Amino acid sequence: MPDNPRFLPLLPHTTNTFGRSAVTCRYKCGDACSHAAPNTSANPYFGDVVAQVAARRTVLRAGAVLAIAGTTAATVGAGSAVAGSRPGGHSGSHHGGTGLDFEPVAPNVEDAVVVARGYAQDVVIRWGDPVLPGAPEFDFAGQTAAAQAAQFGFNNDFCGLVPVPGCRDRWLMTSNHEYTTESHMFHGYDAENPTREQAEIGWAAHGQSIVIVEKARHGGLEVRLDRHYNRRITLTTPFQVTGPAAGSPYLRTNADPAGRRVFGTMNNCSGGVTPWGTILSGEENFNQYFANADAVTEPVAKARNKRYGITGGASVRKWERFDDRFDLAKEPNEPNRFGWIVEIDPLDPRSTPVKHTALGRFKHEGANVIVARDGRVVAYLGDDERFDYLYKFVSDKKMKKGDSRFAREHNKTLLDSGTLYVARFRGDSPPAEIDGSGTLPADGEFDGTGEWIPLAHNDTSFVDGFTAAEVYVFTRLAADAAGATKMDRPEDVEPSLRTGRIYAALTNNVDRGKPDKEGPTEINPRVNNKHGHVLEIAERNGDNTARRFAWRLLLVCGDPAAPDTYFAGYDKSQVSPISCPDNVAFDPKGNLWISTDGNALSTNDGLFAVPVEGRERGHVKQFLTVPHGAETCGPVVRDDFVLVSVQHPGELDGASADNPLSHWPDGGTSQPRPSVVAVWRNK
Ligand code: FEO
Ligand code: CA
Ligand code: CA
Repeated sequence: MPDNPRFLPLLPHTTNTFGRSAVTCRYKCGDACSHAAPNTSANPYFGDVVAQVAARRTVLRAGAVLAIAGTTAATVGAGSAVAGSRPGGHSGSHHGGTGLDFEPVAPNVEDAVVVARGYAQDVVIRWGDPVLPGAPEFDFAGQTAAAQAAQFGFNNDFCGLVPVPGCRDRWLMTSNHEYTTESHMFHGYDAENPTREQAEIGWAAHGQSIVIVEKARHGGLEVRLDRHYNRRITLTTPFQVTGPAAGSPYLRTNADPAGRRVFGTMNNCSGGVTPWGTILSGEENFNQYFANADAVTEPVAKARNKRYGITGGASVRKWERFDDRFDLAKEPNEPNRFGWIVEIDPLDPRSTPVKHTALGRFKHEGANVIVARDGRVVAYLGDDERFDYLYKFVSDKKMKKGDSRFAREHNKTLLDSGTLYVARFRGDSPPAEIDGSGTLPADGEFDGTGEWIPLAHNDTSFVDGFTAAEVYVFTRLAADAAGATKMDRPEDVEPSLRTGRIYAALTNNVDRGKPDKEGPTEINPRVNNKHGHVLEIAERNGDNTARRFAWRLLLVCGDPAAPDTYFAGYDKSQVSPISCPDNVAFDPKGNLWISTDGNALSTNDGLFAVPVEGRERGHVKQFLTVPHGAETCGPVVRDDFVLVSVQHPGELDGASADNPLSHWPDGGTSQPRPSVVAVWRNK
């Protein structure tokens, strides 16, 4: 383990390397970054237009300051299990009461999980470990679809805990299995000629694992092979489609003429735990699983597929050879049945999970819910693509408190009726001061105001030329027409349950400022944005149902020694470098925790903590790093432990199952295995 210096001298140099390997790009998102960004709409950045009028700008700026300053603790109802507090530290008076008194982990390229000094860590569960009682032990060379369907799936991303009723220190842990990397899963994998068994193992390795975990004596968590609760959800598990677009002609297929029942979920990236104890999960880069979009020639349908990045020819994994539904020449509507937020009730293991059409269809990163002051619930949503948008959903109905069956069943319908909005941002500085370099404008901040543009409310569309069903199924195009603001890949968007403010990770966008692409805007202020930024939104009067808000950038990420970075005004000589923010979570003290994906500073991805209040605001510190080639995701941050998902360890250029370049976590000459890791403080 490398030394953890008290204060990081940070990095000696930076490179232009984009931190994700070619194999991860191919299997995780279907080479999204090497295709043209599918948003070719002409909607302008509204702020630049508004900012022409100096007097108006002054008003907006004043409004922004007032709204941010005026935000106080919102009524937030039941807490999310994602929330917790710092991992067992002291109050740390010299850190302004943030509790973040650990020494930052130095950037490194270890093939190991490296945690802050004084903390211990261990694997909770790995790819292939049994989930269901009776599942076979993992056999890399002898995998079967039947075994995989009872074992922990591949490349776990989001991780969420729901307490087991009546049990202390025992939880239902849900993990998303975002994607499969066949070249790392099978010896001698031939990408041009996959076998049916490999395809079916891939279907079984997607979806979710739900396992009981409990505190272990030595620290950390251990899995229980519980017959009642443990569950695997895969690409063949039936889902019910709910909400206003359920049954729409756009969702009907030969296998499901009613358009209300879909087999499986795929590319589940991040998610959230609802205040009523269910799991939300985002279907993200679903487009890559479908073949032969060129068979769809009707112009409107063709344009819709294009906007979602669904392309012609064979798919990445060639599953269309084994199931017609992956072939648009045979089932042109099947892709419309993916790209949703799904809800899973881990406390009811026999329940049918649902796809919520009211939350729109796009490349959903995840969904995080807060209870507004009036009891309605608000879900915040990101569409992870270059130049795509931020959304929110406000329910019609109010959450019922308590965990009676009646209350739970009611609450599980909250996301079926309400209003879907998309965000439009305005900057408050003159456009000439936003030059793409990351240099702060004269008012000292990238900040401004914005509004939530309503797209649809149940059966009512607010977008000209779109029916309500079209808004929900082809949400990206509706948001284009509504004039949404193009963002730098919105990943997790999560409200702080302490303050009601919303934090969004905008992971990167190297296309910003390229010819024919939108240039810098105050909210996305850097061209060739390799390192991303973190946005803070304060809804007007602290009301999460509000139509208007103020915003400011909390972090402009990268090497703090570089002039284009910003850490909320904190002394940059004292912060950890951070690149490509992806997932966010909060501890009970309200500190923001950020995991990264694709560190473009050429060191391993990590988990970082940063206070968002007081004099420590902006003091980013790296808490752990994951093995080389891996991405950090799914953070759960509690008083007593932290969980992270170590996704795609060893996905490095040149690596494969026949040439593994990571041996984490089992060491020796073993194959790398995506895993959940628990971290706790040493006694
Ligand atoms: Fe699967 Fe948006 O990362
Ligand atoms: Ca400004
Ligand atoms: Ca992500």
